Amino acid sequence: MRRYLYFTTVLITSLVTNAYSQVPARVGGLHTEHLINPIGIDEIHPRLNWMLEDSHQGAKQSAYQLIIGTDSSAVKGGEGNSWSTTKINSAAMLVTYQGKSLNPFTKYFWKVNLWNQNGKQLSSAVSSFETGMMGQRWRGAWISDRKGIDARPAPYFRKTFSAQKAIKSARAYIAVAGLYELYLNGKKVGNHRLDPMYTRFDRRNLYVSYDVTANLQRGENAIGVLLGNGWYNHQALAVWNFDRAPWRQRPTFCLDLRITYEDGTTEIIATDTKWKTKTGPIISNNIYTGEHYDSRLEIPGWNMPNFNDQKWDEVALRSAPSKQIVSQTLEPIRNVEEIQAKSIKKINDTVYLVDIGRNIAGVTRLKLNGENGTVVRIKHGERLDKNGRLDMSNIDVYYRPKDDTDPFQTDIVTLNGKPVDFMAKFNYKGFQYVEIHSSKPIRLNKEDVVAYFMHSDVKATGKIVSSSNIIDKIWWASNNSYLSNLYGYPTDCPQREKNGWTGDGHFAVETGLYNFDGITVYEKWLADHRDEQQPNGVLPDIIPTGGWGYGNANGTDWTSTIAIIPWNLYLFYGDSKPLADNYNNIKAYVDYVESISEEGLTTFGRGDWVPVKSSSSLEYTSSVYFYTDAVIMTKTAKLFGKKKDELYYGQLAARIRTAINNKYFNKQTCMYGSGVQTELSMALQWNVVPDEYRAQLAENLAKRVAADNMHLDVGVLGAKAILNALSENGQGETAYKLASQDSYPSWGWWIVNGATTLFENWDINAPRDISQNHMMFGEVGGWFFKGLGGIKPDEANPGFKNIILRPNIVEGLDSLEAEYDGPYGKIISAWKRNYKVIVYTVVIPPNSTASLSLSPGGGRKVYLDNRTVTENSRLEAGKYQFIIK
Ligand code: BGC
Repeated sequence: MRRYLYFTTVLITSLVTNAYSQVPARVGGLHTEHLINPIGIDEIHPRLNWMLEDSHQGAKQSAYQLIIGTDSSAVKGGEGNSWSTTKINSAAMLVTYQGKSLNPFTKYFWKVNLWNQNGKQLSSAVSSFETGMMGQRWRGAWISDRKGIDARPAPYFRKTFSAQKAIKSARAYIAVAGLYELYLNGKKVGNHRLDPMYTRFDRRNLYVSYDVTANLQRGENAIGVLLGNGWYNHQALAVWNFDRAPWRQRPTFCLDLRITYEDGTTEIIATDTKWKTKTGPIISNNIYTGEHYDSRLEIPGWNMPNFNDQKWDEVALRSAPSKQIVSQTLEPIRNVEEIQAKSIKKINDTVYLVDIGRNIAGVTRLKLNGENGTVVRIKHGERLDKNGRLDMSNIDVYYRPKDDTDPFQTDIVTLNGKPVDFMAKFNYKGFQYVEIHSSKPIRLNKEDVVAYFMHSDVKATGKIVSSSNIIDKIWWASNNSYLSNLYGYPTDCPQREKNGWTGDGHFAVETGLYNFDGITVYEKWLADHRDEQQPNGVLPDIIPTGGWGYGNANGTDWTSTIAIIPWNLYLFYGDSKPLADNYNNIKAYVDYVESISEEGLTTFGRGDWVPVKSSSSLEYTSSVYFYTDAVIMTKTAKLFGKKKDELYYGQLAARIRTAINNKYFNKQTCMYGSGVQTELSMALQWNVVPDEYRAQLAENLAKRVAADNMHLDVGVLGAKAILNALSENGQGETAYKLASQDSYPSWGWWIVNGATTLFENWDINAPRDISQNHMMFGEVGGWFFKGLGGIKPDEANPGFKNIILRPNIVEGLDSLEAEYDGPYGKIISAWKRNYKVIVYTVVIPPNSTASLSLSPGGGRKVYLDNRTVTENSRLEAGKYQFIIK
């Protein structure tokens, strides 16, 4: 990327497209810790960021002033009692709070005054963040019922209290090991699902904060809590041994409900021995298999004040699951999209097959009605067998049940003679098809079944629209797979495993970040990495883990997440905190790999997993990732001014690169290893190849692809590298042909076979490793932005402060619009061919610039406002329309 800086760039402006819309300029996009008006902030120096929304060319911030305080009208009026900066001459829009120490349980209001390029002042509206416990002692005790880890029914808890005075505000803080639903006066609090997010429960637990002012009333109130097992009490048996996780226990929770009365006094209602507990209709729940619900055991009104709980049991006090109880500050999982069933087929009186029309992760919700005692089994899967019946053979392969009482991806509902509305609370599945079996005939219509696409509810930031159906569909499918695999940590697949496979996580990170504002989820996952890292630096290949995943394969090509993810967060957000937080962890990791490597080479890794046909050298691919980590470590040390580390890791990186090239690079033929696609691609993608051979190597790669009949011959490591390796090095046409290929093996091959998600295997009939919702081949979904739209971060000015803009206007694609909402606003790179003329439209958001390189080729010239412009130019914020002819 840095190469572009060597071009002589010319600053160009456009007259015609100046001020492309008339929307008045404003300051918006205020976030604290990358969230909008969050509550439960424990960070003592929270990050604040904002945006300038202004369509005028050259719009930028010349200065800012931050005003933060506890009185919203004072802040609005320009006075902040917590932190008021002077007018600071700076373009920075991501600033760390440096005011008075923040108090717990306090709402802070903030706004920013911004001066633009002409010195004109604009003020944002007032935004807020509210602190959480900030290390204060909890009042509540950890409680549970008295049942053991094998007990199947989910426990219900309740407690009533009387609020004698008028309530001004109230907050609920709930820490849970397992999963929960919280109710106040019969109503569920919030719309989170599968909360709290999964962590290594014996190292770190998350608490969730809610504003519950509106849920309470003067007089009698009831708190209800329902607990699920989640990953904390994994009862199902599968090859990863979560049933033997060191943290495993019956779910437990701790709650502080803080009420502030109008008279200024505070009362805390907390968990203690006076709470009552009982089991109810959820007679079994498992995150991995399904939920069993016996509607005959429903307890009407269990969470209401006037319910008689005399027959309920005493609770048990428990020790806290870990010493670290920290705030959950990330986008929660929600039922994000409701999907109507596409079709229903009655197989017979007791069997129905429902197609929801696309593959998702989530749950179904069914309206069921039948005779008292009827047992309905709701099975979920991704595909049908040749007889048109549900086939789970691609996803139940690692399940090791000891009996048939808890079938895979199956909810079991027992009816009570009245209508039952059922949706699993503590489980999710990966599926497109639902087969419903009942013990006695039931009637089911299409309208009785809906599906909810569930995932971490991150905001969409990217859009690709093109003249190619296949490109648009691959992009959509990759987003579906990305989201299906985002549940507070990235997973490999939502059905067979639900594991936080490290490799899958970093293969997909760029696609994820182009398309979704996911920093909060990644920061949480990095904290999971820190919890998990061994004192010697080693990481397991699934995170979190109950102990599985240490061996020989958990090497650099998978566990380099610790370096690659923070580095990408830095590139995409311009935020160095993830690198700072993980600095020692990256270092320990690189040091470990160095300690087991001989002369810079290592075989510590898994290799190019699920290849088409050719395999690549394990030592080569693992060493390339080792090199990548050492480079990230060097750059990070430089960023933080750690000279000694910069020097040390810089030399290490150079040694690894030399060792790889000495052993694997044939200068005569300009080939790596045995010359297969993955080996050639990785040398280009990860900058292993000496600069002077770069172009030749890319050409050799293009020839290799042509010899492979313009098809992929890669596994996951090659799939991450190949498109970039080509398009970054003058072979964009070949990259595009691969990306838009629709016969085997290709991404498009899945699509033409009806896929709405990405698969785990190029061969759709593969006998194993054939989940239909995997993200490990998903780099393509990010490549459209980079390799076609040409929108790339500039590591010298990260967070798209400067955008590297180098579109590849490839043959055969008549139009493309790539849009990405970065930290400074919407970036657009779009082209349209009109016979021989190409119109290329660019939008650069305020306060940022772009280094544009257009290489029209074929003797064509680039015009802006009828003037020719050079091929490399520097653009200020604004909209530009270039004509290429
Ligand atoms: C997972 C993958 C993972 C791989 C590693 C598979 O079972 O589903 O996505 O990265 O194992 O070998």
